[in-house]
Formats: sequence, structure tokens, C-alpha cells
Amino acid sequence: MATSMVETMRWQNGKLEMIDQRVLPAQFEFIAYDSAASVAEGIRSMVVRGAPAIGCAAAYGVALEALRLASSTLGEQFAKQLEAGFDVLAQSRPTAVNLFWALTRMRRVWQAMGAVEPLQLAQRLLSEAHEILAEDVRINRAMGEHGALLLKNEARVLTHCNAGALATAGHGTALGVIRSAVEAGKRIAVIADETRPFLQGARLTAWEMMQENIPVTLITDGMAGHLMSRGEVDAVIVGADRIAANGDVANKIGTYMVAVLARRHGIPFYVAAPLSTIDLEIKTGAGIPIEERDASEVYGFRESRWAPEGVAVRNPAFDVTPAELVTALITEKGVVHAPNDAQILALFR
Ligand code: MRU
Repeated sequence: MATSMVETMRWQNGKLEMIDQRVLPAQFEFIAYDSAASVAEGIRSMVVRGAPAIGCAAAYGVALEALRLASSTLGEQFAKQLEAGFDVLAQSRPTAVNLFWALTRMRRVWQAMGAVEPLQLAQRLLSEAHEILAEDVRINRAMGEHGALLLKNEARVLTHCNAGALATAGHGTALGVIRSAVEAGKRIAVIADETRPFLQGARLTAWEMMQENIPVTLITDGMAGHLMSRGEVDAVIVGADRIAANGDVANKIGTYMVAVLARRHGIPFYVAAPLSTIDLEIKTGAGIPIEERDASEVYGFRESRWAPEGVAVRNPAFDVTPAELVTALITEKGVVHAPNDAQILALFR
């Protein structure tokens, strides 16, 4: 089978349409976007989430803003307002570096165009956004092929959060490796951590795997150690939101706990991420900005509340796994075992 049929986002009738990931799997619906501000709100509110998908959405946000302004605004005003569009997108979420990577790439296209008519620039920005989307699928497939070699037939693979088609333009990073292994004829059984508090594992990973009949078993986050201690997990594979120059990995809250447990039980811990997730400007994980989200995600869910009124709550959305706990980093350029500064830098040569 080709890349998964899940279409996280698509260009339709001059607008960006994105699956509303907040309501999956109960409802499957698209929301249409027509400006940088609306796309930024879609990112902030988690209609779209997952590092590569956020990057793709931001690229479309820039293109949509340029198209919108091109029909009404001229000259200096156009440039000023497009700048404001970049700013609003940059402020949507802080941790996934793919967002900033995509904005930088779009800015370079703008700069390279020089003085051209706004509409011509807008169309060029739109074609760049399309290219970023298409490229992401190609990258995920390359990663999948490299990573699939690491998984044995009949492997029971634990994953945390959702690093699947929904978190990317298609195929996925961590789930892309699993999909590619399945395509190569291996029998893989997935164990999905539910991923409190936003439940990306329970809602999205479980749904994605079931769409393709890949066996998946849902567990709560606290059950991972128990299964590992019973010899029921052969490998762990996760995605990443930002990887520092030394190989430290920021990913969904709870990933660090899984990595420590994996080391304790001698289970390989793999991270699958494209080069656009690596931030060479940040030396170690300590420098990665960690998003703190609203307390309401922790004390309840939607309309229900289970914690007492007034209780103090923390809600960091990501944590950092030190490079020393990473067995291998899977990228589109190949697999890096025991990643360190030198090996990571070499990926960019
Ligand atoms: O808060 P989210 O859902 O955007 O967090 C997503 C993750 O942490 C993913 O594991 C990561 O972005 C990799 S997605 C290919």
C-alpha cells in the first residue's frame, strides 16, 4: 500500500483545509482557513498538531496571507502586513522547531523574489507551501525505509503521543517507520500510550493504526513500565518536536519517562525525525522552550472536571530526553546510532 490515506491538510478552493484533530475519532471533519491569523489559531488550539504538520500549516498560513493581502494591499503596506502574518504564526506554539524552520524557508523565498507584484509573490509562496507538504511525505517515506530495518518481524513496538500521518503531511515519522515495516511484510504489533493529558495516543494513534488494520493495543501511560518488566515490549519508537545539537530530544510530555524505562529494561529507544526538527542553534535540551498549556487540560476533559476546584496544576506539554538514552535517531538521511554532536552535524553536510 502507498502512504496512508489520511490527509491531514489539503488545498481546496483557494483555502487550506485541515482535519479537526480535537474531535477525532468521534467526528471526522475539515475546517477551512484563509489567513495567517486563522491558521495560527488552528495551530494554537490543536486543530493541527505534530511538529511537521505544524510546519506545513505555517507555510500555508504565509501563502494565504500573501494571497489575501495581494487582492487589497499595495507596496510597503503589503510587506508590513505580511511581516505581521509571519509574527502571528511564530507566536502560535513555541516548542516544535519545524514551525520556525518553515517560516524561515518561506521568508527566504520572499527575499529571493525581490521587488515583484504581490500576486506573483503570493503564487510563488503558495507553490513553496505545496512543495513543503509534498516533500514532507517523501522525507517520511525515506525515514520509514531506513527505520523499518531496525524492527524485527513480530516486534511489539511501544509509541508515545501521535507521530503518524496526522502529525505530518502523510505516512508519519514514528508511525511511518511502523507502516514501512508492515509494507515490507513484517508483522508489527503497536502498543499506544494514551498520552495524557491531550490523549493523542488514545484518540489519534489508535485511530490511525485501526484505519489500516495494524494491530494496536491502548494502554495508559503508567502501564508502560509494567509491560516492559514482563518482556512485552521489544522496541520503543517516538517522534520529536525539537532536537538540540547534542542529540537531546524534546517530545510529548511522558517521553522521558518511557526512555528511562526502556534503558532500565534494555529495550531500544528510537527517535524518528526529519532534519527540519533538528535545531543546531540550541546546544542542549536545556535550551529548548517548553510550552506550558492550560490547566483545564489536566483537571478535566472538555465539560467534565475531576480535580478539586482551586488545586494547583502544572501542564508542561513536552519533556526532554537526554541523547544518552536514545539508541538511534532515524532521519531521512539514515540511522544515527547513539547520536552526539559530531554525528548530528554530519547529517547536514
Ligand atoms: O502537542 P502535539 O500533539 O503537537 O505534540 C506532538 C508530539 O509531541 C509528536 O510526538 C511530535 O510532534 C512528533 S510528530 C511527527
